[in-house]
Amino acid sequence: MERKIKKIMPTDLIKMKKRGEKIVMITAYDYPTARLVDEAGVDAILVGDSLGMVVLGYDSTLPVTIDEMLHHIRAVARAKPRALVIGDMPFLSYEVSRSEAVYNAGLMIKAGAEAVKVEGGIEIIDKVEAMVEAGIPVMGHVGLTPQRMLKIGGYKLMGKKVEIAEKIIEDAKALEDAGAFAVVIEFTVAEVAKIITEKLSIPTICIGSGPWCDGQVLVIHDILGLTPSPPPFAKKYVDLSKIILDAVKQYANEVRTGVFPSEEHTMHMSKEEYKELLNKIKRNN
Ligand code: KIV
Repeated sequence: MERKIKKIMPTDLIKMKKRGEKIVMITAYDYPTARLVDEAGVDAILVGDSLGMVVLGYDSTLPVTIDEMLHHIRAVARAKPRALVIGDMPFLSYEVSRSEAVYNAGLMIKAGAEAVKVEGGIEIIDKVEAMVEAGIPVMGHVGLTPQRMLKIGGYKLMGKKVEIAEKIIEDAKALEDAGAFAVVIEFTVAEVAKIITEKLSIPTICIGSGPWCDGQVLVIHDILGLTPSPPPFAKKYVDLSKIILDAVKQYANEVRTGVFPSEEHTMHMSKEEYKELLNKIKRNN
């Protein structure tokens, strides 16, 4: 089937759900990766706060700042992708007040995001409403919410027990009612993700929550084999760590043994210019 080249907007993801087309989302944090994933034909690019862990080396997503997010959103936006660009709002950039949430979401839009993502449900609903009222498309994020890992007690599979399952379903419904255009469901049992997907008219995008969602998202470093300890639900499609290690070792060896740079990678001046240069140096000494 021929792919359309039209720019993807949040409303297009809702149309895709209606047509029963699976939505493909992936993270990207820089210009070259954004170009590549867009060329590969993904529907949405998430500039996730996961960048704190996979790019910046933090132990969790909690230290990530608005400025760090803006820096990476700008880089991704410069690739001018056809895919929808979603900026992840970092911890403490939207939880405190409606005006702060709208202001920070607005900074992300000014940096080039076309939508923002926030973690949480009923407890942040007034902020989601405020952002939507301001004209900012909002993607929700329920189930495992890594920004609350201290409260949850780590990165645990969610929804195994009825009480938590009900809360996740209520959160997702509240986000839809508040005007969110899609909801990420992270590391949640597949049965709960299925119920949410059937209940909501906006798309569900799953990560580690089974196959019965309207779309899937993964962290690009996990699928490329660049994460030392990937989560159990991630699939590695290539071992880029090995490819990079081999290439850099070969480069180091060639520099040390004089193989690189060879004549092929060496630029020369003309013989005449060289001769004149040597003569001038001789005369000046
Ligand atoms: O930050 C991120 O990459 C995310 C995905 C895991 C959905 O929120």
